[in-house]
Amino acid sequence: MFSFLYKCLVKPILFQIDASKVHQSVSDLGERFGQFRLTRSILGSFLRYRHPSLEKTLCGIHFENPIGLAAGFDYEAKLPGVLPAVGFGFATVGTVTLHPYKGNEGVQLDRFPRSQALLVNKGFKSLGAKAIIRKLEGRVFEIPVGISIGSTNKIFHTIEEQIADIINTFQLFEQSEVKHSYYELNISCPNTVTGQPFLQLHYLWSLLSELEKLALAKPVFVKMPIDLSQTETLALLTTIDASFISGVIFGNLTKDKHNPDVHRDDRALWQSRKGNLSGKPTWERSNRWIRLTRQHFGKRFVIIGTGGVFSGRDAATKFEAGADLVQLITGMVYEGPQLVGEINRYLAHGVYL
Ligand SMILES: Cc1cc2nc3c(=O)[nH]c(=O)nc-3n(C[C@H](O)[C@H](O)[C@H](O)COP(=O)(O)O)c2cc1C
Repeated sequence: MFSFLYKCLVKPILFQIDASKVHQSVSDLGERFGQFRLTRSILGSFLRYRHPSLEKTLCGIHFENPIGLAAGFDYEAKLPGVLPAVGFGFATVGTVTLHPYKGNEGVQLDRFPRSQALLVNKGFKSLGAKAIIRKLEGRVFEIPVGISIGSTNKIFHTIEEQIADIINTFQLFEQSEVKHSYYELNISCPNTVTGQPFLQLHYLWSLLSELEKLALAKPVFVKMPIDLSQTETLALLTTIDASFISGVIFGNLTKDKHNPDVHRDDRALWQSRKGNLSGKPTWERSNRWIRLTRQHFGKRFVIIGTGGVFSGRDAATKFEAGADLVQLITGMVYEGPQLVGEINRYLAHGVYL
C-alpha cells in the first residue's frame, strides 16, 4: 500500500519540485520526526521490519539488519534519530570535510528517471567537521552510525597538505564525544577540484600509512570508485589489503559518460551537465567489483555493496555477489521510504544472508 501511495501520489508531485529543495525539506522533516518518541514509534510501526535472522555482527559492531543509508544523503547529520524508525540497520553521516564548503556551483542534484538515477554535483558540500561534531556529541544512537570523511574541496599545494586535512578530521572525531561505530574513508568522490589523487597507489599508501598512526579504535571502510579497469581496481585493493583497513564499499557514483547502463537520451543530456550518476547506472559495476573482491581476497575485507538497490531481490543479488552489508539512497528516492522494510522482509523470508 505504501509503495502504491508513494509511486502514484507522492512521487509525481515531489518529482515536479527542485530535487535539492525536496531533499532539504525531507531532511528537515526527518530531523523533526527523529526528535520525538511518539513520531518515531508511529513511523516505526509502519516502516520498520525486525527479524532475528537479519542480525549480524561485523568488526565487533552489532547490526539489527544489514541495510544502511549510504553516504551523501545525511551530510548535515540531521537523520540519525529517525533512520531506525524508517527501518535502516545502520547509517552513514557525511561525507564530512575539515572545512565547511557550500557545494559546487550550478544544479547540485537532479533526477534522470529514464536511467533510474540521480545526477549529483555537490562536491563534498559540508558544514565542516567541528559543526557536525557539535550536532552529534552527547547523542545516543539506536543503530550503528558511521562518519564518512574526505578532504575539503579546495586546491591543495601539496599532497601532504591534503593528507593532513583528512587526518585532522579523523583526529577531531577521535577526540570528540561522538558515539559513532565506524568510519568511511572517501577516496572516490568524482566531483571535487583536486580530482581523485588517492586513486594513485603511492598517494593512497601515504594516506593509509598516516591514518594507521592514529591507531583508530573503530574500523575504517574505504569508499571505492567503480569506473576503473579490473587491473586498476585490483591494484587499489592490493594496496588496501596491505594496510589496517577493515573493509571496502563498492562503490561510489559513476562519472563514465559512456556507461552503457545510462539511458541513451540521458547520455546525450549528461554531456552538457555537471555531476555524476547514482542508481541503476552503478548497479552492474558495483556487483562486478564486489564479486572480484570476494574472489581475490576471500574474507579479508568486510564488503559493503552500494549502487542501484531498488528491491529486496536487488539486495539479495548484492549478498549473493559477496557483500556483507548493503547501503542505498537512490532506490529509496524512486521507490519510497517503505523500501527499507520491504527489503528486510524479503531477505528474512528468503534467508539470503
Ligand atoms: C545525493 C547523493 C549524494 C552523495 N554524496 C556522497 C558523499 O558525500 N560521499 C560518498 O561517499 N558518496 C556519496 N554518494 C554516493 C552514494 O553514497 C552511493 O555510493 C551511490 O549513490 C550509489 O548508491 P545508490 O544507487 O543506492 O544511490 C552520494 C549519492 C547521492 C545520490
